[in-house]
Order: sequence, then structure tokens, then C-alpha cells
Amino acid sequence: TTRILTGITTTGTPHLGNYAGAIRPAIVASRAPDADSFYFLADYHALIKCDDAQRIQRSRLEIAATWLACGLDAERVTFYRQSDIPEIPELTWLLTCVAAKGLLNRAHAYKASVDKNVEAGEDPDAGISMGLYSYPVLMAADILMFNAHKVPVGRDQIQHVEMARDIGQRFNHLFGQGKEFFTLPEAVIEETVATLPGLDGRKMSKSYDNTIPLFGSAKALKEAIARIVTDSRLPGEPKDPDNAHLFTLYQAFATPEQTIEFREALLQGLAWGEAKQRLFSLLDAELAEARERYATLIEKPAHLEDILQAGAAKARRIATPFLGELREAVGLRNFR
Ligand code: TYM
Repeated sequence: TTRILTGITTTGTPHLGNYAGAIRPAIVASRAPDADSFYFLADYHALIKCDDAQRIQRSRLEIAATWLACGLDAERVTFYRQSDIPEIPELTWLLTCVAAKGLLNRAHAYKASVDKNVEAGEDPDAGISMGLYSYPVLMAADILMFNAHKVPVGRDQIQHVEMARDIGQRFNHLFGQGKEFFTLPEAVIEETVATLPGLDGRKMSKSYDNTIPLFGSAKALKEAIARIVTDSRLPGEPKDPDNAHLFTLYQAFATPEQTIEFREALLQGLAWGEAKQRLFSLLDAELAEARERYATLIEKPAHLEDILQAGAAKARRIATPFLGELREAVGLRNFR
């Protein structure tokens, strides 16, 4: 079997980038006959970026409902909340003790925060928590706990998966005594959606405020699409698909035939307004049914809770004995 694992941080409302980069490929992968999948809400990760408790609570519910609305089969996969698995923070500590500080110094998210501070003439570490700094170790624990082979993610997460490999390898080397405790994971990236652009052409991201929400109403979807930035070429003037993020967005959801046709139409002068209408139809067709399922699920928090509790129990049946082995390996064995 192939173990597949991925998570989403519960800091906001899921957007098209999360869907195309992680949720959709993960659900497709979970349907393969030999797949054993682990999908979770990264709610401990959420605490790093957000101190608004209500927002985190709401986001957990939304992201749980999103996975199920998109077709995740919670019987077939192991679907859980990170914060329901106490073995994960415990493993995080074991890994923290072998992770090289120099490795974490190179993490993009941490470096970006330092650079920003330096540019602003502030103390390099101003406003940076230890949580942000250690973020990749927690993520390594998520992945290594379940010995995932494959981690479907967007491009922004590749470095984190590589760090998990690095940390896992080091633990194997120090404590394995010939045994490989941890499988070394690989990031799985779908090239056409590795970085889905947002309304302004930068990576679609909660932090840039340029997202298209996955399950807004059809009207909200249309309004968001209307705000996609295009160049000022008039109807009838040939457009340049290779430099239009509207085209990139279309391509991420279209069949190859639809993409070729759309490209051709743009080259022949399709008006941007019409192009947006086509993008809307494409997205609405893909999302309409799931949107309805989502609206039902989000009204049933107790039902979602049951599913997540069952998932946590399933996950812990693996995590508890495995952590026991790891504790022994590092010298924390019971005296009896
Ligand atoms: P997060 O919550 O920022 O994003 C969730 C997933 O969505 C992908 N993604 C995108 N893909 C393509 N284009 C975009 N514009 C875009 N924006 C987001 C992300 O790459 C990610 O796959 N640290 C992770 C969550 C996490 C995790 C893990 C992932 C915690 N532990 C273990 C995998 C394995 C994060 O913050 O993702």
C-alpha cells in the first residue's frame, strides 16, 4: 500500500488554491486501490498564525465540512484533527531534539519574516514566535507519525516536506540501530496547479487577500471572478494567454480540450468579460454540487464531530504504539 497524507491549516475559509493544490489531488489519490490515506485539519499549526480563537474554531468546522463536501470518504481514509492526537506534539519534541537549528534557520516562512523586519529597520526577530520558527518540526511530526510515502501539496510546501525527510533521516540514523523507524516522505505536486494564482496574479493566499472562496454562493463566485485583474486589451484584440492568470486559473479546472479551445479563443480576441463568464461556468459546474453538500454539512457540527472523533481513534491506533517504540528508542523505557 501507499500511504498518502496531507493537511490544511485552519486559519480561514478554504479557497480555490487549497482545493486545486491539495484537496482535489488528495481525494483522487485516496481512491486508488492500494491507497491508505491520512487527511487532517492542521489546527495546531493554525495557532502559529492566528490568535483569534473564534476564527480558528469556525475555520476548523469549515475545513472539515469542505473535505467531506468535496467527496472524501471518511470510512475509507483516516480523517482527523491534529489537536486530537496528543502523540503528535510529543513526537514533535523528540524531533525538535534532533532537528538542526541551521536547517530551521533556512525555512522560507521564517526567513521571509526576518527579511521583512530587517527591511523595516526593526529587530530581526520582532514579532516572530517560537511556534513560527519550529513550524516545520511540527509538520515533520504530522508526516512521520504515519510513515507517509506521499504528501500531495502546493509548491509552497515542498521545502517543509524536504525538511521532514531530513529530520526523519537524522532520527533514523541516531536511534534506528539499523532499523528505519521513519519512512522518508515525498511531496507530490500537480504541475498545472502547483501555484494557483489569485485575483491579482500573485499566489492565491489568505495572507494576500486575493482568494476566491471555494464555497461562496454562485453570485459571490461571479463577483470574485469579475475582480480578476486583466490587461487593458479591448474586445477583438488578441490576448496573450501565457501572461494572463485568468488563463492559468481556467486551465487548472478544464480538460485539455477545453484549455486548447479557450486559448484559441483568447488569441482570436475573446473579450475579457466573455472570458470571465466562461471561467465562471467552468467553476460553477465543478463546484455546484459540492457547494450544496457543504451547506448541509456546515449546519451539522455534531455530525462532523462524530466523524472526526472516529478518525482520531483510528489514527491513534497507529500513533500510540508507534510512539511507544520511539520513546524506547530514545531511552524513555518503562522500568518494569
Ligand atoms: P495551507 O493551509 O497553507 O494550505 C493547504 C494546502 O493548499 C495548498 N495551497 C495551494 N496550492 C496551489 N496554489 C495555491 N495558491 C495554494 N495555496 C495553498 C498548500 O500548498 C497546501 O498543500 N503547513 C501546511 C499544512 C500542513 C501540512 C502538514 C501539509 C500541516 N502539516 C503535513 C502536508 C503535510 C499549510 O499551512 O498549508
